[in-house]
Amino acid sequence: MDGEGKVVCVTGASGYIASWLVKLLLDRGYTVHATVRSLDDPKKTQHLLALDGAKERLSLFEANLTAEGSFDSAVDGCVCVFHTASPVLLSVDDPQAQLIDPAVKGTLNVLKSAAKVPSLKRVVLTSSMAAVMVRSGHPEHGFVMDETWFSDPSLCEQKELWYHLSKTLAEDAAVKFAKDNGFDLVAINPGFVIGPILQPTLNLTSEGIMELIKSRKEVFSDGIYRLVDVRDVATAHILAFENPEANGRYCMVGKVVRSLEIMKIVDKLYPGLVHSERYKDGECVEPVPYTVSRAKAETLGVKFTPEEVSIKDTVESLKEKNLLSF
Ligand SMILES: NC(=O)c1ccc[n+]([C@@H]2O[C@H](COP(=O)([O-])OP(=O)(O)OC[C@H]3O[C@@H](n4cnc5c(N)ncnc54)[C@H](OP(=O)(O)O)[C@@H]3O)[C@@H](O)[C@H]2O)c1
Repeated sequence: MDGEGKVVCVTGASGYIASWLVKLLLDRGYTVHATVRSLDDPKKTQHLLALDGAKERLSLFEANLTAEGSFDSAVDGCVCVFHTASPVLLSVDDPQAQLIDPAVKGTLNVLKSAAKVPSLKRVVLTSSMAAVMVRSGHPEHGFVMDETWFSDPSLCEQKELWYHLSKTLAEDAAVKFAKDNGFDLVAINPGFVIGPILQPTLNLTSEGIMELIKSRKEVFSDGIYRLVDVRDVATAHILAFENPEANGRYCMVGKVVRSLEIMKIVDKLYPGLVHSERYKDGECVEPVPYTVSRAKAETLGVKFTPEEVSIKDTVESLKEKNLLSF
């Protein structure tokens, strides 16, 4: 097992992506220091403690992004810090306090703690396509987004895309800090993450896909989803640590689809799904205006799960948790 004898830290471990990351790290033999906001909340800890290998190789630490020095003990002795913790909210009253400060100051807090650790080899940061795609002057229909794209903070602000702004500023601050302090940082930029949930409560994107399937309620006004499977995203984080050649940022989008295409797949898989406002046979699905390159992620060894499989596994997981019924 590749991770045997290696200690790594995962921040925000109770989250959707991080829970899968902790699971896959334990499966590969790593010892994991996992941070959660409260050790007293079983909804945030029980599913982690129940993972295979947790008894022997998982330790939980309490840490908050907004408290300086909070991550010191969790990162101590680690060879890698996977920094996933960040608020994921699309509607907020106070963007600075609810999104930007925890994302940006929180990331710097984690990196300052990491910079004190002599054993540290690399930080893998969970960024987002939100830090890639908000820019003006899009080329013609059919263009391809890739890692050379950077969201424009002033455009995010102008469009009041506060989550996008928080992720853009956090990635930027992290890259600068790593450069100034001479350590290795790799960013993973996932699109809209779907797939089975390990945690007991719904995260924003799982809720979004559930609402889409149940009632065709859109998360994005343009109805375009940059889908990627949560297991592929977690795997990409691990490959980004294990591959010494990994560098810069990696877009993680399996397929860009319209919501109608998701409904079409759901309808084909589950003709009896009572909640689904059914895709009507012959309904026209317009081609998407752009795609996202998979090429750099594939150089890491990522194999993207087909969207039909991710959608099926999402539905099965929601069914199992009684969040969707047939
Ligand atoms: N899901 C997606 O489609 C997607 C796409 C691209 C990027 N991402 C990024 O992936 C990461 C994980 O997101 P997710 O989808 O897995 O969502 P999630 O389940 O909501 O996870 C977010 C995690 O951040 C933690 N967190 C938030 N504020 C914190 C604070 N002040 N101090 C400490 N921890 C805090 C949360 O802790 P609590 O559980 O205590 O709230 C939770 O563990 C985020 O950085 C997000 O921006 C997600």
